[in-house]
Amino acid sequence: MGGYGDVKLLNDDGTRLDGRAIDEMRPLTAEVGILPAADGSAIVTHGLNVAIAAVYGPVEAHPRKIQRQDRAVVDVRYNMAPFSTSDRIRPGYNRRSREISKVTAEALESVVLVERFPRAKISVEIEILAAEAGTRCAGITAASLALADAGIPMRDMVVGVASGKIDNIVVLDLDKAEDNYGQADLPVGILPTTGEIAFLQMDGDLSPEEYNTCMEYNFKAAKEIHQIMIDALKAKYDGGA
Ligand code: CDP
Repeated sequence: MGGYGDVKLLNDDGTRLDGRAIDEMRPLTAEVGILPAADGSAIVTHGLNVAIAAVYGPVEAHPRKIQRQDRAVVDVRYNMAPFSTSDRIRPGYNRRSREISKVTAEALESVVLVERFPRAKISVEIEILAAEAGTRCAGITAASLALADAGIPMRDMVVGVASGKIDNIVVLDLDKAEDNYGQADLPVGILPTTGEIAFLQMDGDLSPEEYNTCMEYNFKAAKEIHQIMIDALKAKYDGGA
């Protein structure tokens, strides 16, 4: 959220700079089982974002001090590749990637049936190959698919999606320019079957009415993304049926 008031993000006909309507999501594709070495994997492209997720486990958690006697821990590592943005990213963990890893882990732990695997660890690696705003959402969608591909029991998947505000208008799924120069961003992790929210972050300010519109758009998009996720799983496991 740069919040520069002088950057115009809507065309005179009310469309966005990339031609989308205000409640239109960027195109999203998903494929599972792309990494032979992982127990489960997925690739999600969301607009120009490319996110890969790999899942390993459940295995006995090491060192033992991280074990939980009554459940598994879900360990998430979100990383942006150095070549994922126009300014090369310094390799390794930073504050932002730690924060995204933590909120993603908490969201995934709320859907994985962790109590079935006491003292175990399920590792989720999220690698962002191309970043154009919304990578935490693409990452969580990819991670959910990779967990499903690994056969990890879950009560639902988590769909990552964001809405926000540009030029005083609420819009679905901010792209890079909208994220940089817009006024607010509201990424959420939605459980599409139950309608629960597994994570929610807000950058910038929204009125209660704007917040409600953002959530309406987010739920609409989550439904669309969920269908693409189901189709990706069916393509591998039901031969596309
Ligand atoms: O990616 P997401 O929207 O979840 O997170 P963000 O922190 O709001 O970042 C928005 C965008 O800024 C990213 O998707 C990248 O395109 C860009 N970014 C960057 O170029 N360099 C960074 N160190 C962090 C973010």
